[in-house]
Amino acid sequence: MSKKTPNHERSAQRCPVHLDDVDLFADGAQEHWYEAYPILHAEAPVVRLPDEGMTPGTDGFVLTRYEDIRRVVRDPVRFKPTLTLAIEALLASDVAPEDAPLTNAMLASMATLRPTDELYRAHRTELTDPWVGPGSSRHSEMIDHHARTLIDGFIDRGEVEFVSEFARPLPQRVMASVLGFPLEDIPRLAEWGTAQVAAFVHGRGHRNLLDREQVREQFAKLDGFKEYVFEKVQEKRREPRDDMISWLCQVEYEALGRKLTDLEVNGVVYAMVIGGLETTQYALEEEAQLLCENPAYFSALKADRELIRPFTEESLRLRSPTQGLSTRITTRDEVFQGVDVPAGSLLHMRFGAGNVDPEEWECPYEMSLDRKAPTRHLAFSAGPRVCPGAGISRVEQVTAWNCLLDRIDSLEYAPGNTFEHQPGIMLGTLELNLRFTRADPAAGA
Ligand code: HEM
Repeated sequence: MSKKTPNHERSAQRCPVHLDDVDLFADGAQEHWYEAYPILHAEAPVVRLPDEGMTPGTDGFVLTRYEDIRRVVRDPVRFKPTLTLAIEALLASDVAPEDAPLTNAMLASMATLRPTDELYRAHRTELTDPWVGPGSSRHSEMIDHHARTLIDGFIDRGEVEFVSEFARPLPQRVMASVLGFPLEDIPRLAEWGTAQVAAFVHGRGHRNLLDREQVREQFAKLDGFKEYVFEKVQEKRREPRDDMISWLCQVEYEALGRKLTDLEVNGVVYAMVIGGLETTQYALEEEAQLLCENPAYFSALKADRELIRPFTEESLRLRSPTQGLSTRITTRDEVFQGVDVPAGSLLHMRFGAGNVDPEEWECPYEMSLDRKAPTRHLAFSAGPRVCPGAGISRVEQVTAWNCLLDRIDSLEYAPGNTFEHQPGIMLGTLELNLRFTRADPAAGA
């Protein structure tokens, strides 16, 4: 079998051995994150980043302990989300949200649909949960169809470039179907999706900062997306179908006692596209790698499909797609692990590290399919702001592996993988060449 080899030589940074070597945000740091976490947990579970706060004169702090991150995300009053600050600033200005410069549709719609914690909850339960939340098993058949169609495209070859032929297109097709976009439009949607997440891939440091030119370019590209969604909204107001956009055009938002405007529908759609494409792609990529590295799990899952769910939860824990986010501000002085963190500091919540914290997880770097409370990991964050798309992403992952396990009898790395990751804050493998044996179709029928 072609083995996974360390890809440290592909990184501009040295593999960390001592605390001084650790820089989670340097070029190429992605190749060493999982060597850095044990060092941070043992020697510096809270790292101060001087002058790296939101405003001049404030600091950033990296949190790597599970208990600290969980405490932060569960308390949006004490640890205020940066998006809430942005909305407050928008509402305090004289400019209407839709006219504010460099404000995307999502932020503008947040200002009117969910400016308070109470409305934030209502927005979720009323507007997104029915489509991408806990009830997402209703999409199983549609997801199964897309997964099988993609597998048909490579099953006869015995090998596949898993990222471009499966992990990327599956969430694209699923979200296009949920929202009600034609599949032919996926290339354009993918381009806009890439523009939306530009900061998380190309942004500098823990704040994912783009320079002015990059921001201008991003907004210019996304103007096209806004227009495209407006056209779809008009179309679906005239001729509703069974999809999320048609539904959003008609639904009565009870919390505000009214229907949504075109811009508000546009904003909800923006959030679905920014959240719904790449994250699930990265989860599927890492799951494929974990199966190549642990062939016994492949056989176990194939024999007992009930194990797929614990496997996907363990994979999200062990290789979290969103490694960290700097999205909370302390509203009062705090102490984390004995480190003073003043009010007004920007917290970088390192979900990937919290999910392998030895204080929380027994044998944290090992996969275990019978862990207690396996969903308590922080890959989707936790608390009132927990990822609203966790439901559909889970259904996608479980359905994808059910379909793949139906069609293949073994999985291994093909030669030629670099295992190199994309830059930025997500754990995204650039390409993944896999070899498999095709299952006997008669056996599975
Ligand atoms: C494996 C897949 C995914 C991972 C790892 C993931 C992770 C996360 C994380 C860590 C957050 C931050 C929560 C916080 O601030 O506390 C988040 C927020 C968010 N996610 Fe996901 N996500 C995934 C899939 C999805 C999908 C499929 C969708 C949409 C269908 C989605 C939509 C969103 C949105 C809109 C937010 C912003 C918060 C909000 O508007 O309420 N995510 N996600």
